[in-house]
Amino acid sequence: YSLKSRNTFGFQVLARYFVEITSIEQLQEALAFAREQKLDCVPLGGGSNLVLSGHIEALVIAVNLRERSVLERSDDAVLIRAGAGENWHELVRWTLTEQAYGLENLSLIPGHVGAAPIQNIGAYGVELKDFFASLEAVDIHSGELRHFSLEECRFGYRDSVFKQALRDRFIITSVNFRLSARLQPKLGYGQLQQELAQRCGRRSPTGMEISEAVADVRMQKLPDPNVLGNAGSFFKNPIVSADIVARLRAEFPDLVAFPFGEQWKLAAGWLIDKAGLRGYREGRVGTWQHQALVLVNHGDAEPEELLHLAEVIQQKVKVVFGVALEMEPRVY
Ligand code: FAD
Ligand code: EPU
Repeated sequence: YSLKSRNTFGFQVLARYFVEITSIEQLQEALAFAREQKLDCVPLGGGSNLVLSGHIEALVIAVNLRERSVLERSDDAVLIRAGAGENWHELVRWTLTEQAYGLENLSLIPGHVGAAPIQNIGAYGVELKDFFASLEAVDIHSGELRHFSLEECRFGYRDSVFKQALRDRFIITSVNFRLSARLQPKLGYGQLQQELAQRCGRRSPTGMEISEAVADVRMQKLPDPNVLGNAGSFFKNPIVSADIVARLRAEFPDLVAFPFGEQWKLAAGWLIDKAGLRGYREGRVGTWQHQALVLVNHGDAEPEELLHLAEVIQQKVKVVFGVALEMEPRVY
């Protein structure tokens, strides 16, 4: 089964076994089949945060569980539930039409609801965890449905328990969000503020206007995977100590760094750019000319070319700044 149209790098990779499930029962049957055949399972959403590096011998399970509902509404909060197979951006837009606020800054992030908790998606000052209530997931080994609270998910920057202790153990089937009944705009990002000032002047923006402004800023900064294969940021922004920031600042006064608890978050895109690799191209792959943190497939590249480029970038950044870059997408 070809996965070419199911990964946003557009790599031509085959899966030995593939199934698309639309109910929990079908998912449990697929897992039973995998157990019988001693196959590993790979859950798949929109394929926008992975690198399929070769043919997949496992059972690839496209999780197409669809559901959107308002569970509870009070004066301040709206509890909503979404199936793992819902498109993320469409969910965000739907919440706004339901007068349920909080997710607007996460507009236009590609992919599906079920993958969003895996790396605790974030953008423009908001992370999934800020509005997360709970989730349900099926245990890959036992087939049992389990509930996870906010604490149990152990969300961090681009991180959760599903990337650590429970990696490859659960398939998320639905996510509940606790949204706000009143819009509380988070407009800390300069570019977002400018975009909204143009649209609304001094009037306060609506949730939909914020969503549209976020989408516009994103379209200016990130390549559309339908046009140019990519998986968004290819590396995480490195978290480093104040000592390292001081050392780097002495040599690079224009270093881009943000406070992150007791530590600092460096802009990986700035590091790659400053190392001279923005718009750099090696054969059919390269870094995006407007945002060096985005690696792109210029057409018909092989996954190995991309992974080689990633190594070249990691080595160069290590040599120039002494900082290690960790990949964000999962490699299969
Ligand atoms: P997939 O790529 O299908 O899967 C990602 C991982 O999650 C895989 O390991 C997969 O096995 C696992 N998985 C998928 N579904 C399930 C499930 N139901 N249960 C268990 N595991 C599952 N991310 C951000 O955080 N912020 C951004 O601003 C952002 N911008 C992006 C912009 C572009 C142009 C692109 C291409 C990507 C961007 N991303 C961003 C990354 C990506 O969109 C998110 O990580 C998204 O949540 C991935 O969703 P998906 O359905 O495509 O996941
Ligand atoms: N920069 C450069 N040169 C570059 C790229 C960036 O100098 O080539 C500088 C920018 O000028 C800016 C700083 O680096 O001062 C940060 O860049 P940007 O605002 O574009 O954000 P980012 O840190 O690169 C992060 C997330 C994105 C998210 C945006 C907006 C990570 C790894 N990436 O990008 O998430 O959309 O902030 O909040 O945290 C993703 O995870 O796939 C993703 C796209």
